[in-house]
Amino acid sequence: QDPRLARISSSIRVIPNFPKPGIMFQDITTLLLDTNAFKDTIDLFVERYRDQNISVVAGVEARGFIFGPPIALAIGAKFVPIRKPNKLPGEVISEEYSLEYGTDKIEMHVGAVQPGERALVVDDLIATGGTLSAAIKLLERVGAHVAECACVIELPELKGRERLGDKSVFVLVDGA
Ligand code: PRP
Ligand code: MG
Repeated sequence: QDPRLARISSSIRVIPNFPKPGIMFQDITTLLLDTNAFKDTIDLFVERYRDQNISVVAGVEARGFIFGPPIALAIGAKFVPIRKPNKLPGEVISEEYSLEYGTDKIEMHVGAVQPGERALVVDDLIATGGTLSAAIKLLERVGAHVAECACVIELPELKGRERLGDKSVFVLVDGA
């Protein structure tokens, strides 16, 4: 295994009982403080995607906005923000997804992505997969092809991959 992965994993702080009792919160702010770990994280994604003809990197608010733009710049792709409701000023398309209790929604600007573009979806973490599956739907509704999703952390016990159908997720570390 790539030695950079252990350094990335150990730079992520786990905070028990945040934001609710029983949740082990995976805090990537400590990864961002470790200049080597942050660089290694971006490098590993760039090494994987630089020759894959990705023309758009879509990042999901909020933490996908941290990792998505440096990847987009390095591979020569545009960056498209997928945002929480009522934040984008232009015309949007929306996707609702279910949470443990209730639903959430994300939005993308119409016209940001053209039919036939090859997209990479970036977020910090896959838990239930609800966020990524909604992001994939938004991109596919405008005719893009989602090449893959990329996350720093996976919580495998929540089986988020099963929610993504045949779309693959590339993850660096296991947050279990
Ligand atoms: C977190 C995390 C992922 C999502 C993963 O975001 O950053 O985006 O949950 O969960 P899922 O796989 O079950 O959908 P959250 O919306 O909590 O907040 P953020 O704005 O800090 O990114
Ligand atoms: Mg998030």
